[in-house]
Formats: sequence, C-alpha cells, structure tokens
Amino acid sequence: MSITARSTPNIALIKYWGNRNNDLRLPAADSLSMTLNSPYVDVTVEHAEVLRVHSTSKQLTSKDIERFAKHLELMKMYLVVDSIPNSLNIQIDSHIPSGIGLASSAAVFSAIAKAVAGLIDQNLTDEQVSILARLGSGSASRSILGGFVAMKNVSEGMDGAVAEQIADEKHWNLHDIVIIPSGDEKKVGSTEGHAGAWTSPHFATRLEAIQKYRQQECIDAILNKDFEKLQHISEEDALDMHHCMETQNPALKYLSEDTHHILAQVRELREREHVPVLFTMDAGPTVHLICTDEAKDTISGFAHSQKNCKVFEASVGPGAHCI
Ligand code: PMV
Repeated sequence: MSITARSTPNIALIKYWGNRNNDLRLPAADSLSMTLNSPYVDVTVEHAEVLRVHSTSKQLTSKDIERFAKHLELMKMYLVVDSIPNSLNIQIDSHIPSGIGLASSAAVFSAIAKAVAGLIDQNLTDEQVSILARLGSGSASRSILGGFVAMKNVSEGMDGAVAEQIADEKHWNLHDIVIIPSGDEKKVGSTEGHAGAWTSPHFATRLEAIQKYRQQECIDAILNKDFEKLQHISEEDALDMHHCMETQNPALKYLSEDTHHILAQVRELREREHVPVLFTMDAGPTVHLICTDEAKDTISGFAHSQKNCKVFEASVGPGAHCI
C-alpha cells in the first residue's frame, strides 16, 4: 500500500529562530504563520526494508538522505506502535520552482508526516501529525494545518511543541507576493543557523518579546483582521530576527542590498498611497509582501516593476492533506 500527501510552504509572521533542543527541533519560542495555497509538493510513502528517497526535481545529496533517515528514526521513536514501518520508500514530486525564495523543506516534511500518518492508519490528531512534521523541519509543523497557524511550546520531550490553527483559510484572504532579487546568495541553511541563535547578545530579549506580547498581539491582529496591527508586529519581529542572525556567531547576513532597496520602496509606496501591505523575510534576500484583496493588484504591479527580480504569487491555503 502507498499513500500520497500534498503540502505547501507557509510564511511566518512571528518567526521561528533558535531551538531549546536542536536534535528534537524544539523551538526556543512560539511562532505563527500563514499557510500558502501554492506551490505544492506531493510525497508518496510505502513500507520498505531499507530507506529509499527519490526526488523528481532534485539530485539528493548524502546530507539530504541523512536528514530523511534521522527524521524517520525520530518519527519511529515518537510513534511507539506496532504499525511503524521498518523503513520507507519516499517519492518526492515537487512542483516548487527552484530559486523562488520559498523554502521547500516545510512543504516536504509536512507532506512526509501526513503521508506516514496515513500509512500507519492510527487516527493521529493534527497535533500529533504536526509533531511528526516538526521532527523533520520545525516550520513544517505549521504546514499541517491551513489558514493561520501557531507553533506553541507546551512541554519538554518530543511532543513539547505542536501546531494549532488560529483561524482557517476562509477567515481572511491574504496574499503573499514574493519578490526574488536575482543572483544566487551563498547561504547557511536554517538547521545550522538555529544552532547559533543563542550566541547573539539580542536573542534572550527576542524570546522575551515574543513570549510577553508579540505572539499574542499577532494572534489578536489576525482574529480581528486588524492589518495595521499585523503589519506593525510582524515587521518588528522579522527585523528583530535578522538583527539576531546578523549578531550571532558566525554572523548570518541573509538580507542583501537589493532587499533593503525593495523595503525602502515599499515604505515609500505605503506612505504615498496608504496601501495595506507588510513585508517579511526568511533566511534569504527574498521579500514577501503580504497584502489584503484590495491591495493585491497594486502590490502585484509593484512587484513586477522591480528590475531583475522574479515574482511569485500565492494566497492563504488549506494545509497538508492526503490525495
Ligand atoms: O523549519 P526551518 O528549520 O527551515 O526554519 C525556518 C526558519 C525561518 O524560515 C527563518 C522562520 C520561520 O518561522 O519559518
């Protein structure tokens, strides 16, 4: 028997950066994101005696295979039931164009988790499936659910952080217009980056801000569809994460001159035309412009007017599901 699950990336409004346990990918703080409706990845899993992973879009390295093997071992440790597969045959069919600034790991690991949950047929809750996903990539836990999703720290141990839906995808039709400056930036992946987070002198203050007010204010802004509040709090958090990244050891400078140039223009546009749009950036120079329906055409036009940039457009979406 084989099971196929489909999943998509998510874009964080309160960013996950740094772990309290790197092996178990237990985050140092809560985070919050919007699940996107595209682009998608299909993952098919079936029982096998030895792990085999095949991707239609990428030549997998031995480091990639090690990560899948570790994920499988952690899933087996968490799922102490008889039906756990000895090993898996994993087929990854990604429709995420490369170089569009949307990390595929959240989509891939959430699809694996959803497919494995289908394969073992134990009626796992979304919360449990989000734990399976988190063991492969922290942000993947949030793509298990649609709409607006928090990753919450709840306890110690493997099940110590879970995803929770704040509002579903029908609640607020927000869009993510992604601007990708051209030029391949050399980058350190987030798994390595998380491990250095505690070396930033600003990291403790960041954790305190998220715990004291940011996460809750972001939830409130979403529930009340208060775009201005959402803009204020999520931009504060994104810039704060990059400040921590740039001051950790070794320093991680993900934002480029192009990024800053685009941000200056977004601020100008906002001042001039009062457009409801907010910016956020993950571990790369790509700028995500989140906007409401009314601002979509203006923001799309703005994005396409950027020279030497690729543009990708998505909206809020439903989360991982078996197909
Ligand atoms: O799930 P990871 O290990 O790829 O980490 C994701 C980190 C950020 O994209 C920078 C922030 C986030 O919350 O998605």
